[in-house]
Amino acid sequence: MPIIELKDVSKLYGFGDATTVALDEVNLSVERGEFVAVMGPSGSGKSTLMNLIGLLDRPTHGQYTLNNRSVARLRPNQRSKVRRDKIGFIFQSFNLIPRLSAIENVALPLAYRNVSVSKRLKQASVLLERVGLQDREYYQPHQLSGGQTQQVAIARALIANPDIVIADEPTGNLDSASSRLVMELLSEVHSTGHTILMVTHNPELTRYANRVVYMQDGAIVHDEVKEVGKVPARARRLIYSVPNKTSEEDDLAGVSALMKAVPTKDKPAAKTKRRKRTTKRSKKS
Ligand SMILES: Nc1ncnc2c1ncn2[C@@H]1O[C@H](COP(=O)(O)OP(=O)(O)O)[C@@H](O)[C@H]1O
Ligand SMILES: [Mg+2]
Repeated sequence: MPIIELKDVSKLYGFGDATTVALDEVNLSVERGEFVAVMGPSGSGKSTLMNLIGLLDRPTHGQYTLNNRSVARLRPNQRSKVRRDKIGFIFQSFNLIPRLSAIENVALPLAYRNVSVSKRLKQASVLLERVGLQDREYYQPHQLSGGQTQQVAIARALIANPDIVIADEPTGNLDSASSRLVMELLSEVHSTGHTILMVTHNPELTRYANRVVYMQDGAIVHDEVKEVGKVPARARRLIYSVPNKTSEEDDLAGVSALMKAVPTKDKPAAKTKRRKRTTKRSKKS
């Protein structure tokens, strides 16, 4: 029984002539304990797919079964509850709350589960130790390096012991040494039985996964199971340009989506204008 099962899942943004088909009838099933790397050019729908799987957003069409439960049509507050219980997120842009210390950031997800402050901090401390940052508990995000910030984000993603960890370009803003550290951590998380989905532009990082899913124009164009430790030839052939960093506004939207379950604000429509698929799709329907 797969932990994640998407059937004919589509995500459309906007309407009429300005419709963007971000996901086009995607089918995907992921077994518990898999480590899936997701690759594809910028704009191919990777983040949209992660946001749907992570219940940060809902599909326009199609079915989503998570842990044997149909979740595509949940109300926002039910959705955020399932999300908090089942899913941990790691984003490219870290998304820590700037004024909170490392330990407070890590403890935050427990604040929504009626766990007492002292218990929260105790657990956060255990997690920080697990990611190797026990001596940085009371540092603020600006006092940490990029790699350390992502270590904190990983600790935060794990504190509620989620079944699924979703990492959207977790090393996108890191140098290669920090990327390696983050990947080793994710690999360790995988070995403890968590299911991981990770978007990456870096073919080398598919090494840690047991499966690679390739996306293009909102569709999965190839899906291969492989040995952990190897980089598939297909992944090696793909050289993508690294997308621009997300803006600070995006980061804050991400934090609020994560913490308060407020749906992410729509991005400006200007970004969707170039889509070729739009016309194709509207003829079809
Ligand atoms: N909130 C949004 N509103 C309108 N269009 C969006 C929104 N989010 C993503 N898109 C569009 O959907 C497509 C897929 O985006 P995305 O999933 O972010 O791709 P990727 O992560 O692969 O770069 C792109 O054309 C993008 O511009
Ligand atoms: Mg993306």
